[in-house]
Amino acid sequence: MENTLLDKVPSKSELTASIRELLKTKNGILLAHYYQTPEIQELADFVGDSLQLAQAAAETRADIIVFAGVHFMAETAKILNPGKKVLLPDLNAGCSLADSCPADDFKRFIQANPGHKVVSYINCSAAVKTMSDVICTSSNAKLIVDSFAADQPLIFAPDKNLGAYINNLTGRNMLLWDGSCHVHNQLTDEKVIQLTLEHPDAKLIAHPECRGPILALADFIGSTAALLKFTQTDKSAKYIVATEGGILHQMQKASPDKTFIVVPADETCACNDCPYMKMNTLEKVYSCLENEQPEIIIDEQIRQMAAKPILRMLEISRAGKLIR
Ligand code: 13P
Ligand code: SF4
Repeated sequence: MENTLLDKVPSKSELTASIRELLKTKNGILLAHYYQTPEIQELADFVGDSLQLAQAAAETRADIIVFAGVHFMAETAKILNPGKKVLLPDLNAGCSLADSCPADDFKRFIQANPGHKVVSYINCSAAVKTMSDVICTSSNAKLIVDSFAADQPLIFAPDKNLGAYINNLTGRNMLLWDGSCHVHNQLTDEKVIQLTLEHPDAKLIAHPECRGPILALADFIGSTAALLKFTQTDKSAKYIVATEGGILHQMQKASPDKTFIVVPADETCACNDCPYMKMNTLEKVYSCLENEQPEIIIDEQIRQMAAKPILRMLEISRAGKLIR
């Protein structure tokens, strides 16, 4: 395959300009999650959290969607846009949380618990989505769960931390699938306490994929977009941020005078990166747009079944005024 620009090791600005040109000539749109590198976020047509990205994918008139995120996000975009080409710069960009819920095991879990409706976090495979009544994200999980009658037994999958948090918020006792995100689950309350002692003037903000003891300490809990918004409207000058470090780019950009400290994954670095999110590079974005692959391909029957709970989520979000 010809790749003239990449053959000569282009500069970042050449790559950026060529990606913009390709997006224009091919009527493409570049969607990026907040955990992408700053250079990809800066180039993207839209940067958002999982719900906002699903909404953007549902609304776009572009012919090609380049998804700078992970596989389940691009798959969701394809489910909503069967007629469009959806490209993921690196097909290996998976998700440990989605992987923690294999479809066959989940099917058995549902069969073992009859009478339950199924709420699945968007971080799951299309196969798991086909078994779900409704999908949620971290920004609408409470709204989605509240849409069921209080006495309706519910299964929540795959994130046990988000599920437990929503159980606390709603007073429900949803059955939780035992899954988690390795990026958030590895953060420890010991490290968080150490940081809060070192920075007593800082507020702790956390993503609900973090473990319960961290959430119990947090001043604010929310999706990536909600965390960003909080730092823009809140009066504090310093924040300890318990989520993936990519979100700091927009936080720092929106509030250049504030200080943001990411809770590190371990003692070896001061960062907390999702290895899957960080598989995407400018070079891969360029290459996938040039070659129009890797493309997300999905079986039509699975697509149709997976679309129902996603569309239900978008409908409930719209009714609840959760619009981007
Ligand atoms: P949100 O951007 O929806 O908060 O999700 C975070 C995440 O982990 C995506 O994989
Ligand atoms: Fe999946 Fe966790 Fe990475 Fe999000 S941060 S994409 S949940 S592995």
